[in-house]
Amino acid sequence: MKLRRRSAVVAAGAAATLLLVPAAVAFAHGGDAADSSLRGLASKQGLRIGTAVDAAQLGSNKPYTAIVADQFSSVTAENAMKWDSVEPTRGVYNWKAADDLVAFAQQHGQAVRGHTLMWHNQIPGWLTTGVANGSITDTQLRDLLHKHVTDEVTHFKGKVWQWDVANEVFANSWETPRADGLNADDFWIQHLGPGVLADVFRWAHQADPKALLMYNDFNITGEDGTNAKFQAVYDFVKNLRKQGVPIDGIGEQGHLDTQFGFDAQRYQADLQAFGDLGLKVAVTEADVRTFVDNSTDQVPTDSLAEFAQPYEFSELLKGCQLVSQCISFTAWGVYDGDSWIPGTFAGEGFGLLYDVHLQPKTAYSTLQQDLSVAAGTRHHGPVGGAGK
Ligand code: XIL
Repeated sequence: MKLRRRSAVVAAGAAATLLLVPAAVAFAHGGDAADSSLRGLASKQGLRIGTAVDAAQLGSNKPYTAIVADQFSSVTAENAMKWDSVEPTRGVYNWKAADDLVAFAQQHGQAVRGHTLMWHNQIPGWLTTGVANGSITDTQLRDLLHKHVTDEVTHFKGKVWQWDVANEVFANSWETPRADGLNADDFWIQHLGPGVLADVFRWAHQADPKALLMYNDFNITGEDGTNAKFQAVYDFVKNLRKQGVPIDGIGEQGHLDTQFGFDAQRYQADLQAFGDLGLKVAVTEADVRTFVDNSTDQVPTDSLAEFAQPYEFSELLKGCQLVSQCISFTAWGVYDGDSWIPGTFAGEGFGLLYDVHLQPKTAYSTLQQDLSVAAGTRHHGPVGGAGK
């Protein structure tokens, strides 16, 4: 009821504005009722709406760059901040692509989500080879991770709003869980033990005490139908908080697939449970994939998927809107032509808000509606840049 009443007030306000002032003038003031961009609408609820950005297209692809600037108030480097991108050669850092993104974000009033410091994927070859051939011992590996976290967080100190400090270390239903739910075969857990999780948060906090430090993962809000992974993360993180480990929030990736359906109530309840632990939550990598004719055109093979895709996207956003601890909602890429989906999930695509030609899809207008309905319900707290 509250949402409805507020939206009626905003709608009336918008109508009045349009009657009294020319649209161009209304836009010139920015952030007013005439701003129907995702970021403009989200700001009215104190929420940041984000996208993962492909460093190679930023600047060079003009329509892409315009969409990133106009529609989103938070950006995540899709790959440019991962360890293999920033330190491809041991001891030689290359921050260029990530620095360019941070500069872009600053120019466009966007917050930056730092992604990601400790993950088993996209770590440099020199490191995995060294560990495999024994030239890097576990003690040295721990020192290298400590240095990596410290150097990267220090490099971006004051410029990153949220860091995905650790990524995907809990076991999925097809993996072997330890008693505490961590993935027994995870590279970092295997070599450094479960204590590394607390350490990596402490190291990040030391390097930038003001950044929000998140644990990021997928299938942690019941998407696999069991809720077991949620429970494992919940119990583990609760315990970390009890020990005073500086963890501020949970990143729920939000990679959905229409073939599995989606229990939106479970999802919202799990997000709320994390929030009730005193944590912030963020949806960090939203996309909703489905089977398509081919990876170039990405037309759904089942016409019902054209309805399921925006519906599930909308449910993902609404869960975040209804949980007051949810501070940002990020799509994992701008358009279907730059999504990781076709290259990762055979035969699938159509996962994002814009199509292969960079045209907004139904999912886009659905999110726009969800945001405008809730505009004015300011329950997400300050949306400021870096800083807690
Ligand atoms: C993906 C990128 O989108 C791809 O470009 C890259 O080749 C592989 O990684 N979970 C994560 C992200 O946390 O970092 C992944 O991103 C997608 C799954």
